[in-house]
Amino acid sequence: MVAVHVLNGPNLNLLGTREPATYGAVTLAGVEARLKEKAAAAGVELAFKQTNYEGELVSFIQEAGLSGAGVIINAGAYTHTSVALRDAIKGTDALAIEVHVSNVHAREDFRHHSYMAPVCVGVICGFGVASYDLAFDAIVPLLQKRAAKPSA
Ligand code: DQA
Repeated sequence: MVAVHVLNGPNLNLLGTREPATYGAVTLAGVEARLKEKAAAAGVELAFKQTNYEGELVSFIQEAGLSGAGVIINAGAYTHTSVALRDAIKGTDALAIEVHVSNVHAREDFRHHSYMAPVCVGVICGFGVASYDLAFDAIVPLLQKRAAKPSA
């Protein structure tokens, strides 16, 4: 069975109350519920996690990558600062999609750079919490394709 780990970084636990003009009114629990429904309908195993700690996010990525699960990651501010997250994706060969609720490219310059983007298959941002749904729809066929390939 294809598995997807949805990993959330710092301050995403505040989704729904934090800067609602930028991030909207849906909570992280709301995002999780939507994705769990989608995963059940698609026959995909889903893990959904959040942490405010960089090292824990590294461990979450390692766990997903080493188990062959796909990664949908909203690393929050660590996107723009963390070499360790990039190395965890690269080092475990994780099939990962970077997501953001807001359009980071329409915001401050420091949000325009991502350390992770070059080691992800793609980046989805700016669609509100639907960015997660779009990432889920994109990652599942990629994981299914990878699972169907005979291993070398
Ligand atoms: C964010 C964008 C980041 O720049 C910011 O630090 C966040 C949230 C988003 O989902 O739009 O914490 O990742």
